[in-house]
Formats: sequence, structure tokens, C-alpha cells
Amino acid sequence: MDKLLQMAEIKPGDIVYDLGCGDGRVVVTAAKRYGVKAVGVDIDPQRVKDSLANVRENKVEHLVSIQQKDIFKLDLSKATVVFLFLMPTLNTRLMPQLEKLKPGSRIVSHEFDMGDAKPAQVVVLTTKGEEGHESNFDSNIHILYKWVVPWEKEAPDNKKKPGNSK
Ligand SMILES: C[S@@+](CC[C@H](N)C(=O)[O-])C[C@H]1O[C@@H](n2cnc3c(N)ncnc32)[C@H](O)[C@@H]1O
Repeated sequence: MDKLLQMAEIKPGDIVYDLGCGDGRVVVTAAKRYGVKAVGVDIDPQRVKDSLANVRENKVEHLVSIQQKDIFKLDLSKATVVFLFLMPTLNTRLMPQLEKLKPGSRIVSHEFDMGDAKPAQVVVLTTKGEEGHESNFDSNIHILYKWVVPWEKEAPDNKKKPGNSK
């Protein structure tokens, strides 16, 4: 998440949306670290409760709002940064909404690409997993994507390259 927030180049005045916000960790961190407004949206009432508790615990109610909604029925006209950690099929379904974001808006995605949208940046990150024994760390590889609106289309021969989900 830290790397994705850095890739999003959040600046004062940005409005950060996390589509499928889970426990709200992204919107809470964005608000605390950058002092920006953030909106978390999730369809699952339990996840919404978790997010609201996280917002209260971190005292960022003045910056963060949490909505229980379907992300496909969302008005994204105020968003300037969108965070995604969704299955690639959902990312692709969101493209008509994301295409309408203001030029220069950034979209960052944890793990999954987005249809034929050509990323402006792809970062492969290796993180250490949970510590089991002192000398035994699991390694996890994460792929992080960034697009800037309006994005370019991927060349057709790049579509089936390894690591691309299509
Ligand atoms: C993998 S979690 C990501 C959580 C969070 N963004 C993070 O990075 O920690 C995906 C979340 O998307 C939510 N979700 C899936 N489909 C949705 C939809 N159509 N509308 C709103 N939320 C959705 C799920 O309930 C789940 O909490």
C-alpha cells in the first residue's frame, strides 16, 4: 500500500477513492499521511463497519467518508486518485467510469491490470512474509500498476505477455 500511495503522487487537493475499501486502510492512511479527503466504498456491510471503526480509531472523520455502495453505480466525478485491489474482470468493467475521470487523475492497482489500458508505470515488489522462524521468511511478489487519465491502449501484441492477466 505504501508504494501504491507513493506511485499515486498524492498532492494537496486530491480526492482519493478506494473502490472496494475493505477495512479502510488505504483511505485512512491517505488522509493521515497526506491530509487529503478520501472516500472508501464497499458493498459488504461488515467491511463498511470495519472501515468506519478504522476511521474513528484514527480520528480522520473530518477527511474520510465511507459509503456502502456498488462501485459500478458510483459517481466518480470528484475523484482525482483511484485505488483498486479488485479482480481484473472488475477492473475492466470499471473502465467506462474511470475513462471519465478528470485528465491527469491517477489510477493505481494492486496486483491486477485493466483491460487494454497501457500502464504508465508497473512496479514489481518483493516483500517479506510473516516471520516463522528467525531464518525463515516467505517472499511475496506484488505487481503494482499505475495509469494516468487519459490512458493509452496497449499494443495488441503486448496483450498476452507473461504477467498480464488477459
Ligand atoms: C481485496 S479487497 C480490497 C480491500 C482494500 N481496497 C485494500 O486494499 O485493503 C476487495 C473489496 O472489494 C469489495 N467489493 C467487491 N465487489 C464490489 C462492488 N461491486 N462494489 C463495492 N465493493 C465491492 C469487497 O467487498 C472487498 O472488501
